[in-house]
Amino acid sequence: MDVAFNVTRKCNKGCDYCYLSLTGEDLSLEKIKEIVEASNPKTVTLTGGEPLMHPNIEELLSFLSQRGNHIHLLSNGILLNEDYLSAISETNAELFVTYNEPNNRISQNLHQANNKGIDVNLHHVLTNKTVESLDEICQDLNFAKSLLLLYPTDLGDGKVTMYGPDEWFPLLDKAILATQPYGIKTYFEQAFAKKGSELAKKQPCPTGKDLFIDANGMSYPCCLLVDKVLGSDSLLPIRMSPEGCNFIRDNPLSDSSEYIRICPIVITDKYDGSFQFPSHLGDKK
Ligand SMILES: C[S@@+](CC[C@H](N)C(=O)[O-])C[C@H]1O[C@@H](n2cnc3c(N)ncnc32)[C@H](O)[C@@H]1O
Ligand code: SF4
Repeated sequence: MDVAFNVTRKCNKGCDYCYLSLTGEDLSLEKIKEIVEASNPKTVTLTGGEPLMHPNIEELLSFLSQRGNHIHLLSNGILLNEDYLSAISETNAELFVTYNEPNNRISQNLHQANNKGIDVNLHHVLTNKTVESLDEICQDLNFAKSLLLLYPTDLGDGKVTMYGPDEWFPLLDKAILATQPYGIKTYFEQAFAKKGSELAKKQPCPTGKDLFIDANGMSYPCCLLVDKVLGSDSLLPIRMSPEGCNFIRDNPLSDSSEYIRICPIVITDKYDGSFQFPSHLGDKK
């Protein structure tokens, strides 16, 4: 089992699309240690908010590394200075930085991370606007180990206008075309499945496999639902059905659609036959 922590609800950015309410709360180092010892995970993901704003982030990284945990650090990349980069490098943590548009400061930080031998991965919340910068981003950061294209998700507060399948699939198509020349392994959130396809029948929901702990120390089924459902004291991962999920339930597609919504965070790098990639992507399966 793996564990992910929202170590803090502080953030220095405040993206207009962010699904999380930024309350300023931190999860204490003691509580994190207690949960890690009790659940004994292999990989620990540190996210937030902005995890580099946690007051004990360096101590936390070294605690996890000393126990032999593999660490995934999700960050907006702004605060990645020399000290943080050294702590990340010394603890072999892998970086996942959200990079939606070219930004000199974040780019320099990521180049320095790469120079220190840190594994840099990119997250990109894909929109009609951001897709236009993907070529430039991949050219600049061609050392990235992977790129994950995220589906902009609205959780009922109207912050995000969500794409339907007729917009989302061509957008993914365009984005993957832009990343191909740079050889960066590209993953994407598919968000929809064609009715009758294997994916539609399975309606995969990633909950129940791993533990997700919020800054309040409680366990939740999924990062998207921390403000939407009640947390639990139990350290057993919480399983949900797609029918019980607030996102799927509150965002139905019209009956005429040939697609159904699936969990937006089901990640794939596989073409499952439900939409068309350009022919020159050949045998992408
Ligand atoms: C909540 S952030 C926390 C880590 C860090 N602050 C960051 O931005 O990478 C985790 C990921 O969720 C993404 N995210 C936040 N709100 C989203 C939304 N409404 N739809 C899709 N992705 C979202 C962010 O872009 C980021 O890649
Ligand atoms: S997506 Fe990340 S950087 Fe943006 S406001 Fe949310 S926590 Fe902060």
